Amino acid sequence: MAVLSRTVASSSLLLTLFVLFSSFSEAKDILVGGKTGAWKIPSSQSDSLNHWAESTRFRVGDSLVWNYDGAKDSVLQVTKEDYVSCNTTNPIAQYKDGNTKVELHKPGPFYFISGVQGSCEKGQKLIVVVLTPRHRYDISPAPSPAELDGPAVAPTSSASSLKGGLVVALGLLAWGLLF
Ligand SMILES: *[C@@H]1O[C@H](CO)[C@@H](O)[C@H](O)[C@H]1NC(C)=O
Repeated sequence: MAVLSRTVASSSLLLTLFVLFSSFSEAKDILVGGKTGAWKIPSSQSDSLNHWAESTRFRVGDSLVWNYDGAKDSVLQVTKEDYVSCNTTNPIAQYKDGNTKVELHKPGPFYFISGVQGSCEKGQKLIVVVLTPRHRYDISPAPSPAELDGPAVAPTSSASSLKGGLVVALGLLAWGLLF
């Protein structure tokens, strides 16, 4: 009886941890500016998209979504140089469908400016920095089998220590369930 209730308790704890890992690893669609119609010339510094981006976490696999009037505006993905100088002549990618979705497929900075002449200069631009999985400040997605094999990867931050602790906890729970 005691063994059974311990098993049930362990199972529900495992399920809870699984749900936790799943929610952390889920790729998200992130609406630029957090609301529709946010792709515009900002009315103030605190209204700027970069102000919004600073308080938003972007992970590899997430997608940015822009809602705007495709007849009047566009989204250009550009280099850092073209971002700084607001140069719209040679973008990496150009979108004008009004409902643009761009996947953040790798870590590092992504630069976007409006394709409308003069709008970038007035602040309609966005830098999104996608953190590398190793340097994230939260719990990483479910660990790979290699990571479960042992402490091959030395913890480099408190985040990985926390993850290591969770992996150990999961291992102990699995052990407790089996024996
Ligand atoms: C914009 O970039 C293009 C090349 O991508 C360059 O030829 C042009 O001189 C640049 N314009 C300005 C104003 O810097």
